[in-house]
Amino acid sequence: MSVDRTPDPTPGATADAGRGATAAPMPVRDAPPVVAIAGASKTWSGGTRALAPVDLAIRAGEFVTLLGPSGCGKSTLLNLVAGLAAPTTGTLSWWGGAFDATGSPGRRLAFVFQAPTLMPWARVDANVRLPLDLAGVPRARADAEVGAALARVRLGDFARHFPRELSGGMQMRVSIARALVTEPNLLLMDEPFGALDEITRNKLDADLIQLWWKKKLTVVFVTHSIYEAIFLSTRIVVMAARPGRVLKNVVIDEPHPRTEGFRVTQKFAAYAKELTELLAEASAKGATDL
Ligand SMILES: Nc1ncnc2c1ncn2[C@@H]1O[C@H](COP(=O)(O)OP(=O)(O)OP(=O)(O)O)[C@@H](O)[C@H]1O
Ligand SMILES: [Mg+2]
Repeated sequence: MSVDRTPDPTPGATADAGRGATAAPMPVRDAPPVVAIAGASKTWSGGTRALAPVDLAIRAGEFVTLLGPSGCGKSTLLNLVAGLAAPTTGTLSWWGGAFDATGSPGRRLAFVFQAPTLMPWARVDANVRLPLDLAGVPRARADAEVGAALARVRLGDFARHFPRELSGGMQMRVSIARALVTEPNLLLMDEPFGALDEITRNKLDADLIQLWWKKKLTVVFVTHSIYEAIFLSTRIVVMAARPGRVLKNVVIDEPHPRTEGFRVTQKFAAYAKELTELLAEASAKGATDL
């Protein structure tokens, strides 16, 4: 089933985009999307109409951010993508229908929540090992994978610490390591750095974009922050509220790997202006506009 009713905004979809050593991982335009959302809406059991029908295709290698005012259905949409909630109408299809949301060997989905949700009584390495323990991975192999995941988030020296001995930013990095240890094909992140100060958040954003780039991940990320969204994303999905819906796709046409310098460019400022105006529109529009 085709879900693209509008021109494809995927970066790399045009003939000359994404070429060269500094290009983003090339999404494969003609490959089935990692997730295809077709007319998916959500009305919660209490009657809250959280999402009007959404059509969205997320392709391999994209870093897609859902950006919008509080209550516009970002978490609801992410939960649908995770398979944690079922759509009221419409369908979602993962990996071209070959695998469900839980995936199967070779197709894995990981979720990072806003809070690190670590087990306080367990050391950092045991926290990161949890998904492997649950999957019955032999201990020696699991330990090697935990070591590699902690190294990726620069926490190799903290494996034997308890969560309470770490800063908030370090705890979020443990949470990311726990998601990465399963080698996900699709990484879902719901405001993972929302509770952190801006400097720490910028640093973790830079780490995350490096990881995405090196590991060729596909990411769906949620944030309220225009600046975080521009810095990270290959595409921003701007959402509006009452009911939640997609207002516009904005492709961030900036090569990777991106560095802090991008934040102070005119191009960055121009995207910030465009998105500020779109968000003002998103906040102003109500159900009467539909
Ligand atoms: N499990 C649930 N049961 C009932 N209503 C829900 C549930 N989850 C969300 N809602 C409602 O759905 C609407 C959208 O909520 P959602 O959490 O998706 O918004 P959001 O864009 O993530 O907001 P925020 O930026 O504040 O996190 C809200 O009106 C909310 O009250
Ligand atoms: Mg939310």
